[in-house]
Amino acid sequence: MNILLIGSGGREHALAWKLGQSPHTSRLYCAPGNPGMKNAVPVLADTPTDLADFAALNHIDLTMVGPEALLCEGIVDVFTDRGLRIVGPDKYAAQLEGSKSFAKDFMRRHGLPTAAAEVFTSEKQALAYLRRHGAPIVVKADGLAAGKGVIVASTSSEAEQAIKDCFAGAFGEAGSKVLLEECLSGEEASILALCDGKTILPLASSQDHKRALDGDRGPNTGGMGAYSPAPVVDKQLWRCIDQQILQPFLRGVQQDLLHFRGIIYAGIMVTASGPKLLEFNVRFGDPETQAVLARLNSDLVEVLMATADARLSEITLSWSEQPAVCVVMTSQGYPGKYRHGFPISGIEAAEQTGAIVFQAGTRMQDSRLVTAGGRVLGVTALGQNMQAAVANAYRGVEKISFEGATYRHDIAHRALDRQRRA
Ligand code: AMP
Ligand code: GLY
Repeated sequence: MNILLIGSGGREHALAWKLGQSPHTSRLYCAPGNPGMKNAVPVLADTPTDLADFAALNHIDLTMVGPEALLCEGIVDVFTDRGLRIVGPDKYAAQLEGSKSFAKDFMRRHGLPTAAAEVFTSEKQALAYLRRHGAPIVVKADGLAAGKGVIVASTSSEAEQAIKDCFAGAFGEAGSKVLLEECLSGEEASILALCDGKTILPLASSQDHKRALDGDRGPNTGGMGAYSPAPVVDKQLWRCIDQQILQPFLRGVQQDLLHFRGIIYAGIMVTASGPKLLEFNVRFGDPETQAVLARLNSDLVEVLMATADARLSEITLSWSEQPAVCVVMTSQGYPGKYRHGFPISGIEAAEQTGAIVFQAGTRMQDSRLVTAGGRVLGVTALGQNMQAAVANAYRGVEKISFEGATYRHDIAHRALDRQRRA
């Protein structure tokens, strides 16, 4: 089978790695891909139409989309209209990620537990609401803002500034509508599931580390590391998430006649009164995917084909018992300004320790691999238990160097704390 994968980050490298293991894969293309994907042919097309032309011309049997932007632009509509098989929701359904007010309406209409929220298109009214409610409060730009449109404000003045920034265009069009949301507290978990409109099939649980610094301090980032499974999601909580979130999601997709043959990512806060939805994404999480796919024994091509063809009821997923940990190595300064172009060494040595090194912000320059982004690498390892997986991942990390290499030293700390307490 010929497969086209779209994207260039660590998540896509993990997808390419897993797709490459399938005996069904004869040729893997990646648009644009990254230097780590040695098994993929790079493709330059980047618009839905050009990608569909490429897929038609090269007899692509299956297209998998990594990032959200193209899904929100309607790539699935373009491919489907031309009879090309693709995994993902159509443009309308992709608003579950592309518009936080659309997602909130969906959650309310179908009874999914979530934080109370109000939507504002006027700065004056948003500020008046803030004066009535005070802090802590969460300010969210409605549209896609590259992971930067959510401000968890602990004081009213911080919230006021965030509201003003949104309406002043700090997040472009995404901020012309703003949600003010109840601030929830608890432990977060990421639940990813495949959904084809008839069946919803959850993947193993995982947890991301959004803050830049050890101890969950510092600014929010795209994700500094992840691990799977997330022990906070025990059997009882899984049952609750299935009954209160996943099954109502599937019913909602059916009742609203959404075209959804893709991945739904539920960002969950486990509060004292049960799991609450923080957000939906309509694609694999990054870096959760690196940890989750490292544990998947099933053939990913078969799984994604079944998703695109609405045959998910035929699939049973099989997982490694071993937990997985992914430590993200970033450029110094990320998520703020950082310099790039620094040579990277030690990837092979890290892989000799048994770690898998997924590349994200890298490029080739004069035949050398150099840094090219904020999140540079995701060093991933399995282990007999969480402690061993953590040790294995960091053993890999220690072999790698580039100028300004920065990473968190406490990935999976909540899982380890939980084990110590048990
Ligand atoms: P998002 O960009 O939507 O993934 O949100 C980023 C992060 O903001 C989440 O992972 C949470 O840590 C935090 N967050 C979002 N909504 C809330 C909320 N209602 N209460 C507390 N924290 C939140
Ligand atoms: N890890 C968070 C995300 O992919 O949005």
